[in-house]
Amino acid sequence: MKNITVIGTGYVGIVTAAVFADLGNRVIGLDINEEKIENLKRGIMPIYEPGLEEIVCRNMRAGRLSFTTSYAEALKECEFCFIGVGTPSGVDGEADLQYVEAVAISIAKHMTHPLIIINKSTVPVGTGDWVAEIVKKHQPSPIPFSVVSCPEFLREGSAIADCLNPHRTVLGSLDREAAEKVAQLHLPLRAPIMITDLRTAEMIKYASNAFLATKISFINEIANICEALGADVKEVAVGMGYDKRIGPQFLEAGLGYGGSCFPKDVKALAYMAAEKGRHPQLLEAVMAINNDRRPMVVNRLKEMLGGDLRGKVVGLLGLAFKPNTDDMRDAPSIDIARMLDENGAIVRAYDPVAMDAAAAILPEVKMMPDPYTMADGADALVVVTDWNEFKNLDFERIRDLMRTHVILDGRNIYDPAALSELGFRYRGLGRGYNGARVEE
Ligand code: NAD
Ligand code: UGA
Repeated sequence: MKNITVIGTGYVGIVTAAVFADLGNRVIGLDINEEKIENLKRGIMPIYEPGLEEIVCRNMRAGRLSFTTSYAEALKECEFCFIGVGTPSGVDGEADLQYVEAVAISIAKHMTHPLIIINKSTVPVGTGDWVAEIVKKHQPSPIPFSVVSCPEFLREGSAIADCLNPHRTVLGSLDREAAEKVAQLHLPLRAPIMITDLRTAEMIKYASNAFLATKISFINEIANICEALGADVKEVAVGMGYDKRIGPQFLEAGLGYGGSCFPKDVKALAYMAAEKGRHPQLLEAVMAINNDRRPMVVNRLKEMLGGDLRGKVVGLLGLAFKPNTDDMRDAPSIDIARMLDENGAIVRAYDPVAMDAAAAILPEVKMMPDPYTMADGADALVVVTDWNEFKNLDFERIRDLMRTHVILDGRNIYDPAALSELGFRYRGLGRGYNGARVEE
């Protein structure tokens, strides 16, 4: 059993804290957001994440997991101090390190004995060295410490499972002994552990996210070509994915990537490259392709509704940036809803969990209690998030409720032929032959 502190109780922090407590350690989660900490103490989760409440509450009851806003309390007995605060995009696309800097200063001021600082936030290459300098500079008197980079690879919506079953643990440090100690902490997860230097570990995180984003933009480019040439991108992806060198994952064409990470991390990597005089050509193309997806969908809907969206009632199926989360950060639904509104459409939406979060961001959108109420009198439905519960809707009922029968499937979750047989005008994205055949 080790004493661990996790600084930041957002998506990464709370999951890290819960999982290390579950592995039998004594963990304190610290955040400067008092309301969040008060709620956590009462078992109220700050986010919707499947399985989170159960694992947090169980470990709190077992006395292994607690929460505080006090750095002094959190660092009193801590041996391993994880940092999991946000690193959002700055004005020029660079990662904004103000939260990491504030944490480093607080650690320096409150540490009372040697500890290992482990950075889980996604930070620009070189940040580990910078954090070490800040801690040294702000310590009232010198106390030894080490900095280890341990990038996090979890996905929202499956964060607990991802954290408990990682594909790999990457550790980077100039202090091999510290990295070995952090490796010991991760042994129960039974994943391959790679120890490298600080900068390389930091780069592995950006390169991994940028590669996954590249796969998505690649398949979206292929989707555009499929439409022009009359092929079905969904089947193209299946056929490609059988090749083990390619793999089936991250080849789902659609609205492109959103969320709190891919957009900001691809931008930050491109910024890092440009800052050093390198031209990030591929990354620029990845971002450009992704940026085209949202307006493209609005234009397509306009086309399907006769060239004018004014007065048309459009229902959005899904608001969250992906299923199984209520995270609205850079969700495609935000841009799409705003563009539809600007074009004069009356926008409704239904999402199983993200409507509260979305209502604050999208006051122009009317939130509906279920997909059927949303379909009542609607001219078109647009699939924005591929929630499982949308996959088997009663389309006969929906058809009878809608005013006109247009479905634009931004996530390619439906069978074009089946919906066309029911009398819908259906289009997916990149479904040239199957989609176009239905249209014609
Ligand atoms: P988040 O915004 O959900 O949470 C950050 C938390 O840090 C907030 O609760 C905030 O109050 C707290 N905080 C800010 N300043 C603080 C301070 N000085 N002291 C203590 N707490 C402070 O962020 P997130 O989504 O968990 O992301 C955190 C980092 O992890 C980012 O760098 C992100 O890129 C990376 N990451 C995120 C995910 C993900 O799925 N969200 C996955 C992998 C990596
Ligand atoms: C992503 C990575 O998958 C995680 O490994 C990483 O830790 C995390 O970013 C991070 O650094 O924060 P996440 O953003 O939670 O995780 O979700 P993903 O499942 O990767 O989806 C990201 C976006 O890409 C979503 O908008 C999703 O709809 C879209 N996507 C995903 C596609 O459009 N097509 C696909 O084939 C896959």
